[in-house]
Amino acid sequence: MRFTRRAALAVVGVATLLATSACGSDDDGGAGSTQVEVFTWWADGGEKAGLDGLVGQFTTACTGQTFVNGAVAGGAGANAKQVLASRLQQGDPPDTFQAHAGAELIDYINAGQVEDLSADYDSWGLKQAFPPGLIDNLTVDGKIYSVPANIHRANVVWTNKKVLADAGITATPADLAGFFADLDKVKAEGIAAPLAIGKDWTQLMLFESVLITDLGPEKFTGLWNGATDWNDPGVTTAINDFKRLLTYTNTDRDALDWTDAEKLVMDGKAAYQLMGDWEAADLDAKGFKDYGWFTFPGNGTTFQWLADSFVLPQGAKNPDGTKCWLKTVGSAEGQKAFNTTKGSIPARTDAVPGDYPEYQQAAMADWKSATQVPSCAHGSACSQGWQGAANSALGAFSTGQDVAGLQKALAAAAKQFAGK
Ligand code: GAL
Repeated sequence: MRFTRRAALAVVGVATLLATSACGSDDDGGAGSTQVEVFTWWADGGEKAGLDGLVGQFTTACTGQTFVNGAVAGGAGANAKQVLASRLQQGDPPDTFQAHAGAELIDYINAGQVEDLSADYDSWGLKQAFPPGLIDNLTVDGKIYSVPANIHRANVVWTNKKVLADAGITATPADLAGFFADLDKVKAEGIAAPLAIGKDWTQLMLFESVLITDLGPEKFTGLWNGATDWNDPGVTTAINDFKRLLTYTNTDRDALDWTDAEKLVMDGKAAYQLMGDWEAADLDAKGFKDYGWFTFPGNGTTFQWLADSFVLPQGAKNPDGTKCWLKTVGSAEGQKAFNTTKGSIPARTDAVPGDYPEYQQAAMADWKSATQVPSCAHGSACSQGWQGAANSALGAFSTGQDVAGLQKALAAAAKQFAGK
């Protein structure tokens, strides 16, 4: 047994592990193994449903290989990323792990922790399958290191339709002023915290959406590539708007994961939650049907994107099995099996919208015409170090509410991690 199995056992539970590992065989996951340990943070609800879909396709396409579930629970990989970092450091990588396209992936590439897959892209025809912009985000010095499974959207507000109807809200707020007015209407119905939220990274997501509204998509993107100064007065406006939004949120926010906040919406204790579109799949998986959604007020047609991709780690025990997993992830069948149940849209451009639930059909249409911006909370905009610093700054703001202090901390993080 490797350390990895122990970590997985602690979090995923014995039953899942026994069901998915090659128990009773002599295969200990070492050299010559036919086990493929897939490391994710998709342990429950819609996330697990998506993973299960992919595993079903892997089982069909990769006979002779056995899927081993290395999931470590916790939204946005809050726990998984720590476990992964320590395993990589100890030279004990899983056979594959999920990594966000963009800056987060570049961390692993620069650290020499993942293998070049360019030749496989050619033999699997993947360069033609994915949009050129996404290929750019996966490429470093002409080489491609991961296979994207999807495109998720981060800047979406999920609603409880009944709570909104009870408050007499029938239209989607066009801007932040309209959103504040609606939040007041829900509050007047006796709902003390109409906007459900969780801990640090979920607060960073809400703050990023406010930044998009107050700065516009171009200046927002500039925050991450150095073109926009974090000391910009527009950032101060956004922090003040965000501070005001926090007055409508649950006070136990710093102790909650995104699914706990989602439950407040499902239970009618809140009307809204800003969350990525994995929430659509999770609400579906939990049988909650009375939900609506809209793009964060003031974001216009901006689509804040992130993409989950899978890699071949340096030193993986079963590279042949991993390659079969990666080929499955990139295939039309694999993307359909995964994305129809994950809330995301396929990264491949040849998907058939009619195969997907209502939400994803709308997202597919938006993706084609939207202005795209990346996400720091989910690694497309910023490195892992920068993301950690931003999460800590938001966590401190949640208790301290110091506007100048947050702006200073975010400016310092940009300087430290991007030299800007
Ligand atoms: C993101 C990931 C999504 C979803 C979400 C919540 O980082 O890209 O697929 O899992 O975290 O856990």
